[in-house]
Amino acid sequence: MTADLAQRYADHLAILQRRAAAALERGGFDHLVVPSGTQHFQVFDDRDYPYAVNPQFKAWVPLTRNPGSWLVHTPGERPKLLYLQPYDYWHVVPEAPSGVWVEHFDIVVIRTPEEALSHLPANPSRCAILGEPQSALGDFTPNNPEPVLQYLDYHRAYKSAYEIEMIAQATVRGVRGHRAAERTFRAGASEFGIHLAYCQAAGQDATELPYGNIVALNTHCAVLHYTQLDRLPPKPLRSFLIDAGASHAGYACDITRTWAHDRDSEFQALIDAVERVQLDLCDRFVAGADYRRLHLDAHLLLAGVLREFGVLRMSAESALESGVSAKFFPHGLGHGIGLQVHDVGGFAASDTGGTLDKPDGHPYLRLTRTLEPGMVVTNEPGVYFADLLMQELRDGPHAADVDWDRVDAFRPYGGIRIEDELVVAESGVPRNLTREEFARTAS
Ligand code: GLY
Ligand code: MN
Ligand code: MN
Repeated sequence: MTADLAQRYADHLAILQRRAAAALERGGFDHLVVPSGTQHFQVFDDRDYPYAVNPQFKAWVPLTRNPGSWLVHTPGERPKLLYLQPYDYWHVVPEAPSGVWVEHFDIVVIRTPEEALSHLPANPSRCAILGEPQSALGDFTPNNPEPVLQYLDYHRAYKSAYEIEMIAQATVRGVRGHRAAERTFRAGASEFGIHLAYCQAAGQDATELPYGNIVALNTHCAVLHYTQLDRLPPKPLRSFLIDAGASHAGYACDITRTWAHDRDSEFQALIDAVERVQLDLCDRFVAGADYRRLHLDAHLLLAGVLREFGVLRMSAESALESGVSAKFFPHGLGHGIGLQVHDVGGFAASDTGGTLDKPDGHPYLRLTRTLEPGMVVTNEPGVYFADLLMQELRDGPHAADVDWDRVDAFRPYGGIRIEDELVVAESGVPRNLTREEFARTAS
């Protein structure tokens, strides 16, 4: 823990306190009260689901394994943390709080969840309580006031230097995992084997990773959220798409790479072309850029690649207008990332509400805001040859604009996605957290 980190955290906390004060004023409340969350149990069973911390809680403190704790912030006072450290010999008991954040909080150790009640503010009706319904304790039922959430969610898109550092640290783990995964793919492993190699290198398993690893070989690369993990490798091995992240102090990274087994194949050439598009787009992630425009630009550029590779016979513009490009690129260009892999507030028009609509025909875009300095967002264009969508295209009015032999040539490889995380700069091109880390660790 460097002095630098301590200062960054202190600055981050000051930002949170200012935001909390403004949000409480909007909602007409005196206290912000945030439960860390509770465990959920499977139906008719005593098995719990993996605990997922309330993101509004981990925004304040880097604690991700502490159900039953509470954060209380009253403007003008030091924030208070009610820290549950139960007497328990069945499970590991959370250690005493430690880290650069501790000195900024009044910490009260509680031994049972109910003990929190005597340390929460006197009047629950003066509290904005942010959390899930089952976190209710006595009269402290989460009320999630709209004006408070609208304010916090909108501003969460702007990351502090501390948060950017946490995402960069998550990226260190993610890149380690990606390098191991590529090696394991080249050695002929199954999806399951590659997944295990990734987890080993990243030092995290499914309970810690920010989302389920997407480890896909051959046609599975066309399934956008493929998480099945076959136990045997297909023969022959053609292609590998891995979309996998990592976590650090509650923050996520989200990285995708695609590889051809045969480096001289036409599919590798197609990957290279998609990567050139991705890099071209990266440079457009500048302050003032409308993310919707970037998404549509991605369609035009990818349609250009499909035309260049003989898949499409129509212009890029007609491919976009007719919806043909969306059959090959059926997801959004990306999303904000931070405490959540798909961070909240992607459509927020302002901190007092309102929605920025998605372009017609692009229902899966997760971000419609204008980029501003400090935002951290992904850039993840892709091209897929998914059976379902290819069939729709073949049955539709533009079937003749497609060379189906070319589609069939690429179909066994599934698809391509390349994904980096970018920090929007004050001016000029963004900081590319993903490529920075790949470059730093290149041998
Ligand atoms: N890993 C999910 C996504 O890229 O959005
Ligand atoms: Mn993503
Ligand atoms: Mn991803």
